Amino acid sequence: MAQTVTVNLGERSYDINIGTGLAVGRCLADHPAECGLLVSDSNVFPLYGDLCLRRLAEAGVAAEPVIVPAGEQSKSLDMAARIYAGAVATGLDRGSVIVALGGGMVGDLAGFAAATYMRGIRLIQAPTSLLAMVDSSVGGKTAVNLPEGKNLVGVFHQPVEVAADLATLATLPPREYVSGLAEVVKYGVIWDAALFKDLEDSAEALAARDAETLERVVTRCCEIKADIVAMDEREAGVRAILNFGHTGGHALEQVSGYDRWLHGEAVALGMVYAARLSVAERGLDADEAARIESLLQRVGLPVRWPAGEAPPAWADLRQAMQADKKTRGRTPRFVLAEQLGAVVFGCEAPDSVLEEAWGGVVRREM
Ligand code: GLY
Repeated sequence: MAQTVTVNLGERSYDINIGTGLAVGRCLADHPAECGLLVSDSNVFPLYGDLCLRRLAEAGVAAEPVIVPAGEQSKSLDMAARIYAGAVATGLDRGSVIVALGGGMVGDLAGFAAATYMRGIRLIQAPTSLLAMVDSSVGGKTAVNLPEGKNLVGVFHQPVEVAADLATLATLPPREYVSGLAEVVKYGVIWDAALFKDLEDSAEALAARDAETLERVVTRCCEIKADIVAMDEREAGVRAILNFGHTGGHALEQVSGYDRWLHGEAVALGMVYAARLSVAERGLDADEAARIESLLQRVGLPVRWPAGEAPPAWADLRQAMQADKKTRGRTPRFVLAEQLGAVVFGCEAPDSVLEEAWGGVVRREM
C-alpha cells in the first residue's frame, strides 16, 4: 500500500509518495513537461535507470540521462557544469524537469543544478537510499562541495515531488542501509517518543529490511520532516533540531577523513556524544541516554570509537566542531535532548563537559 505525505509550503507544497514501483512523475499529470533530464550515478542508473525513464515517458516526458560517477567526489561544481551542459544539449527550458534518481549525493547535486539552471526549474527527487528517503530528498536543501569543505555552495529549492520506491532499498549495500538508520533513530529522539519505542520494538525487522516495517517507519520519518520543514523552511529556528548528533558527526567526518565513516555512522557517534552532553547539561535521564545508545547499537551502528584504532586528538575534534557551519563565534552549538522526543537547539556547554563527554565515546565500557 502506498503512502502519501504532503509538505505544506503554500504554492510550493508537494507530495512525498512512498511505496513500491518507482511512481515517478505523478505531479506532471497536472503540469506536463515535454523535456527532462534524468540525473543518476554509475551505481544506481544500471539498476533503476531504464524503469525511471519508462515511468517518465508514461508521464509524457522524454528525458535524457546524465550519469555521474558514484561517490561523494561527484558532488562538485564540475559535475554541476556537466549537468548544465546536458540540459542545454537536451533543450531544457523553464518548463522542463530534472529528476534525481539516487542517494543523497545525486539528490543534492541534481537539486543544485535544477535550482540554478535558468534560475530554477522543476526538480523531482527519486531517492534510492534510506538516508535520502527520510532526510535529504525532503525539505529543499541542495548543495555541492568545495575543496575547502562539504556543502559550502548551495541553495534552497523545493522539489515538486518526492517518489520513494522502497523496493530500491533491497539493492542498497548493508553498510549504506544501516547508515541510513541513524537518521531514522534521530527522528524518534528529536520529535516522537512513540516512534522511538516502535523502533526499539522493530529493531530486528528494520535490520532485516522488512517491507511493512519500512513503509511505516519511512512514512513516519517523512511526516516528521514535512512538519518541521513546513514550520521553518529556511532553518531560521526549529529546523535546526534535525541536526541532532551532527555537530559531533560532522566534526568526526572532517577529522577522520571523509572515507573513514559513512555519514550515518559518524552521526550515530555524534548522537551518542550529544546524548552524553544532554545528560550533563539538559537533565536527560541517563536511562534514556542508554536507550539511545542501545538502539543505535542494535541496528548495527557504531556507538564507541573502535578499539585498536587511535581516536582523533580532542583538540582537533574541538576545533572541527567550532568550525561547523552552524557555529557562531568560537563556541560549538548542539541540539540536546531533555527527554526522548523533546530537544532544544543552540545549546552550548563548558569545554570541560565537552571533553568529558567525548571521553565517554572513546571509552569501551557499555
Ligand atoms: N538534513 C537536515 C535538514 O534538511 O535540515
